[in-house]
Amino acid sequence: MTANGEAESDPRDSVRTRVLVVGAGIMGSGVAAQAALAGYPVTLVDVSEEFALRGRENASRALDHAVRKGTVTPADRESALGRLDIGIGLRRADSARIILEAAPENLELKRKVFAEIEANAPPDALLASNTSSLPITAIGEHLKDPTRLVGIHFFNPVLQMPLVELIPGHTTSPEVVERAREFAVRLGKTVVASRDTPGFVTSRAMAVLVNEAAWMLYEGVATKEDIDTAYKLGFHHPMGPFELVDLVGIDTTLSILDVLWDGFRDARYRACPLLRTMVSAHKLGRKTGEGFYRYPAAGPRP
Ligand SMILES: NC(=O)c1ccc[n+]([C@@H]2O[C@H](COP(=O)([O-])OP(=O)(O)OC[C@H]3O[C@@H](n4cnc5c(N)ncnc54)[C@H](O)[C@@H]3O)[C@@H](O)[C@H]2O)c1
Repeated sequence: MTANGEAESDPRDSVRTRVLVVGAGIMGSGVAAQAALAGYPVTLVDVSEEFALRGRENASRALDHAVRKGTVTPADRESALGRLDIGIGLRRADSARIILEAAPENLELKRKVFAEIEANAPPDALLASNTSSLPITAIGEHLKDPTRLVGIHFFNPVLQMPLVELIPGHTTSPEVVERAREFAVRLGKTVVASRDTPGFVTSRAMAVLVNEAAWMLYEGVATKEDIDTAYKLGFHHPMGPFELVDLVGIDTTLSILDVLWDGFRDARYRACPLLRTMVSAHKLGRKTGEGFYRYPAAGPRP
């Protein structure tokens, strides 16, 4: 329900329902583009103007790519960009009805961001985290009202990936879960639900796949090119594990492995030191122009 007591299932409500996306990186810019395309007015914020502007450029690039592929019309691209504004801090949180956090994968940071959001947002705003591995219950532990928080896990690149993983925390209210599902469906996504366990379904699967490939490279079993080719031609994977980790971000993948290690204390999730070294060297993948491979035009794939 909105502040006026109206159900959000009426399609016209997307016109009134402002979405605030907090964190204008790879995921925040993609979700902002997708929500604007679905008719929502969207504000995309980050810690600096430079990062917010970069997020808008990424959103614009993702929409251009969709126009070239024929999945979005030029007119819809224009209207979507017209609905997307940017800002610093929690600009326009007080008028947002749906707030999606897409800040880095760090529990303390996310807790801090949600404490600020709770202090600034209307009491009936839906609070969602795009975390790929952190338990929603832990993120919401210090909120005054943790029943408002839910996990809505989008995939990269958002405009192209049809899946959303929906993660209710242990105290999330059923109404909030339903609103989150409606939002994801209105964005054109297929929703799968996961229990609130570290890594959920998808990140647990992805992190193990990438980590095993990193160990094989570390042990000299094969080259990264041959490992990627083996996964693609041997298992019909659309991308090899090193192409995938460069797309996701090596820092984000390492954070997911560390969350899995902390949560399960199982050797399956012991991160290969090579991943940690690459993060120290700031070779994070496409977003920094170099990861396992080099990307002459730095920035996330549209
Ligand atoms: N990269 C992926 O493929 C992927 C896929 C699904 C989910 N996720 C999850 O989405 C979240 C974001 O990941 P990403 O890959 O977009 O990261 P990213 O590093 O590309 O972007 C994070 C952004 O958040 C900003 N930020 C930092 N502190 C902030 C604050 N206090 N307020 C507002 N913005 C702040 C940063 O400046 C940066 O622009 C993470 O939780 C990640 O696990 C990532």
